[in-house]
Amino acid sequence: MYNSKITGVGHYVPENIITNNDLKQWMDTNDEWIQERTGIKERRWIDPQSEDSTSIMGVKAAKIAIERAGLTKDDIDFIIFATLSPDMYFPGGGVRVQDYLGMPTIGALDIRNQCSGFIYAVSVADQFIKTGMYKNILVIGSENHSGGLERSTRGRNVTVIFGDGAGAVVMSRSSKKDIGILSTHLHSEGKHAKELSLIGPSTGRWVDTIIKENDPNDVSYYPYMNGQFVFKHAIVRFSEVITEGLQANNLTSEDIDLLIPHQANLRIAQFIQKKFGLSDDKVFNNIMKYGNTTAASIPIALSEAWEQRKINDGDIVVLAAFGSGFTWGSVIIKW
Ligand code: COA
Repeated sequence: MYNSKITGVGHYVPENIITNNDLKQWMDTNDEWIQERTGIKERRWIDPQSEDSTSIMGVKAAKIAIERAGLTKDDIDFIIFATLSPDMYFPGGGVRVQDYLGMPTIGALDIRNQCSGFIYAVSVADQFIKTGMYKNILVIGSENHSGGLERSTRGRNVTVIFGDGAGAVVMSRSSKKDIGILSTHLHSEGKHAKELSLIGPSTGRWVDTIIKENDPNDVSYYPYMNGQFVFKHAIVRFSEVITEGLQANNLTSEDIDLLIPHQANLRIAQFIQKKFGLSDDKVFNNIMKYGNTTAASIPIALSEAWEQRKINDGDIVVLAAFGSGFTWGSVIIKW
């Protein structure tokens, strides 16, 4: 058995900043409401005139991660791409990255686990590396939410929360024991699938039906979120899965050097921080600047934390996420 280790991190966010006040041009909302409930001050939304897309943003983040790993694209032997907002219904983003980066015909896998997508992707990469199948895996989380949000008062409870961006890591084989990914824990509870979902267009509700019904009140092709229900489950599951990861490694919350929670809502992160008794310098949040970027949120935060030198060799870094599915998971790393 080998060990797997994150050897390079990178992120990319579109230049176009949308402040809370900017949202007023489309909907009845205000800065105070958004900041008080979510902590978000602004988010990035792709400029439709720009070249950016889910896969192109992923490529931009990936280039930085590969370079920081001291590798080239030709050293990568597998791609894992997590998103809920692919450029096309099919194929997914992984193959587009393979093409855009001009990589050899290596395998490319897409992960559809929404806000837990990056955690699931890291877990899959970890298994492939530990068994010796691959040496260097490119793991990307990227989202273009702005392309599919309802910009009206009707959609405001969802639309104000989400932002665009991408983060990437390179995970590599390491022979050093007890360094790298110590454990991953994954969970799901599909009975709550509809509480945070986008129903159609899909094979369950195809375009023909939507056109035939021609219902002005049809919102099935916009994301739906039962906010308070999601909030209540999130705080429980975050706590459980972080505890599960710590216990599996004989660690306690006092051993955590940095917790990077999925950036769903600053209030959720603050609840978790308090629950585990962590000081401000031990929890990394950037939702204020980017909103919720779903599968991209943890790798963007990881990359920013690394750039700000908040992660040092030997640190215990905890990643945790909860989201649509419901799915949730944690990764415990000794950096
Ligand atoms: N601006 C202003 N008012 C808004 C608004 C907006 N963007 N969105 C909703 N409102 C209004 C509602 O219409 C409602 O008004 P009413 O009381 O007159 O009916 C009021 O604000 C309260 O709405 P509610 O949805 O109950 O707010 P909330 O306190 O539950 O906060 C969330 C909403 C979405 C911020 C919160 O539920 C949340 O963060 N949930 C978890 C979301 C999450 O983590 N999602 C991702 C998981 S990966």
